[in-house]
Amino acid sequence: MEENKSLIVLYSYHHHNTEKIAKTMAKALNAEIKWPQDIEPEELTNYDLVGFGSGIYSAQHDESLLELASKLPEANGKKAFLFSTAGITGKSKAAKDHSKLREKLRIKGYMIVDEFQCKGFNTNSFLKLFGGMNKGRPDSQDLSNAEEFALNLKIDYMDK
Ligand SMILES: Cc1cc2nc3c(=O)[nH]c(=O)nc-3n(C[C@H](O)[C@H](O)[C@H](O)COP(=O)(O)O)c2cc1C
Repeated sequence: MEENKSLIVLYSYHHHNTEKIAKTMAKALNAEIKWPQDIEPEELTNYDLVGFGSGIYSAQHDESLLELASKLPEANGKKAFLFSTAGITGKSKAAKDHSKLREKLRIKGYMIVDEFQCKGFNTNSFLKLFGGMNKGRPDSQDLSNAEEFALNLKIDYMDK
C-alpha cells in the first residue's frame, strides 16, 4: 500500500520565523516543503494532507499563498492545515489573520482540519528602533508546540 504523502507550502522572509516552524512540522510529518513560486497548482492533487503557512503581513498570509490558493483545482474535501507566525497572536487574532486564506481554500473544496499560530520576532517599521518585539521567538517551546501539532495531524490523517 502506498504511504500517505504530505506537503507544506511555505513563504517566510522577514526573519525566517515561519520557516523554523515549517521545518519542525515537516520533520514530524515527513513532509516536503515547497515555496509557492515553485509549485504548479495541479501538483497538490498528489498529496493527502497539505499545510499552508507564512508570516502574517498586514493581517493576512503572504500574497503568494493567496494567489496560489486562487489557482488551485477543486480539492474534493482534501485535508489541509494553516499555520503562521505573527507579531501579535491569540485565538481570535489567528482566526482573523487566517480568514482570507481559509476562505479561498474552502471555496476550492479543502477541508481545513487544524490551525497553528505562534509569535515571531518582528522588526517591521518603527519596531526596529526599539530592538523589535518578540525577540527570540519562535523559541524552543514554540517549536515543541509545532511538533506536537504536527504529530497529532500525523496520527489523525497520515497513519491510516
Ligand atoms: C511587512 C510586515 C507586515 C507585518 N504585519 C503584521 C500584522 O499585520 N500583524 C502581525 O501580528 N504581525 C505582522 N508582522 C510581523 C510578522 O508577522 C512576524 O514578524 C512574522 O514572524 C514574520 O514571519 P517570517 O519571518 O516567516 O517572514 C509584519 C511583518 C512585516 C515585515
